Amino acid sequence: MEIKQVKLVYFSPTGTTQKVLQAMAKGMGVDDVRNINLTLPDGAKQNVEPFADELVILGVPVYGGRVPATAIERLKKLQGNGSLCVPVVLYGNREFEDSLLELKNLAAELGFKPVAGAAFIGEHSFATEALPVANGRPDDQDLKKAREFGAKVMEKVTGLASAADLADPEIPGRFPYEGGPKALDASPITNPEACILCGTCASVCPTSAITVEDSVETKVELCIRCTACVKNCPTGARVWQNEMLGKIATWLSENCAARKEPEFFGVSA
Ligand SMILES: Cc1cc2nc3c(=O)[nH]c(=O)nc-3n(C[C@H](O)[C@H](O)[C@H](O)COP(=O)(O)O)c2cc1C
Ligand code: SF4
Ligand code: SF4
Repeated sequence: MEIKQVKLVYFSPTGTTQKVLQAMAKGMGVDDVRNINLTLPDGAKQNVEPFADELVILGVPVYGGRVPATAIERLKKLQGNGSLCVPVVLYGNREFEDSLLELKNLAAELGFKPVAGAAFIGEHSFATEALPVANGRPDDQDLKKAREFGAKVMEKVTGLASAADLADPEIPGRFPYEGGPKALDASPITNPEACILCGTCASVCPTSAITVEDSVETKVELCIRCTACVKNCPTGARVWQNEMLGKIATWLSENCAARKEPEFFGVSA
C-alpha cells in the first residue's frame, strides 16, 4: 500500500506525546504530515474530517495505567473508515499497563485498522528538578527510536497489498482494563507573590480550569492534574502543594529511577 499522507492525532498536555509522534512521522519519510492536536479546548472543538487513505498515528499519555478520560472523550468523535492507524502511548517511566491495549481497542471501535503500536517514555508530569522521574525525556536516543519505529511501520505498510491482509498486532494489557488515575480533589496552586498574571497557565490548560484576571482562579473539579500549568509557568508561581501528590512524586522518584526503553509491538524492535 502506498501512503501519501500521515496524520498525527494526539492529546498531549506537557508535549512529550506530540514530540514522539512528530519524530515517528519524520522516520516515515512522508512529506505531507498533518497535526490534529486535541489537547486544548479549541483543538478539541475542531471539525475532524472522516479519515480516508491516510496513515494515522494516535497518541496519548498514560494516566494511572490507562488512557486519560479526557482523551477518550475527544478521540471518540473520530471516524476511522478503515484507515490504518498506529496507537502510541507515552508514560512516565513507571508502567503503561493496560493503556496501549485500551487505545488500540478504542481505535478499532472507531473504525481504524491498527498496524502496530508503541510505548515510549516521557518526563513524568509530576517530576521536578528536586524529584526527577525521566526528566528530559524523550531525549535524543528516544527520538532516534521513534524515527526507527516510523520507518519500520512504513516498511510494513508498503509491503501490504491491502488493509485486509493486516493481522491484528498483539498488544499487552488486561481486559477488563484495570487501574485509572486515583481520585484526588486537588489542583496546582498559585503563589500570588511570584505570579505576574501573564495568563500562560490558562492558555495551556486542556480543560479550561483556570481563569486569570486580577488573580489566578482554578476550578478544582475540572483539573485533570496534567501539570501543564506548572511546567509552563514562566516564574515558578504555579506549583503543586498537596500532601498526597507530594507523596506520589517522592515515591516515583525513588522507585522509578531506572531507565526504561521504548517498546514496539507489531513490528520488530
Ligand atoms: C494524572 C496522571 C497520571 C499518570 N499516570 C502514569 C502512570 O500510570 N504511569 C506512568 O508511567 N506515568 C504516568 N503519568 C505520567 C505521564 O504519562 C507522562 O508524563 C507523559 O509523558 C505525559 O504525556 P504528555 O507530555 O503528552 O502530556 C501520569 C501523569 C498524570 C498527570
Ligand atoms: S503562568 Fe504563572 S505567572 Fe503566569 S498567570 Fe499563571 S501562575 Fe501567574
Ligand atoms: S489546572 Fe489542572 S488541568 Fe489545568 S493545566 Fe493545571 S494541572 Fe492541568
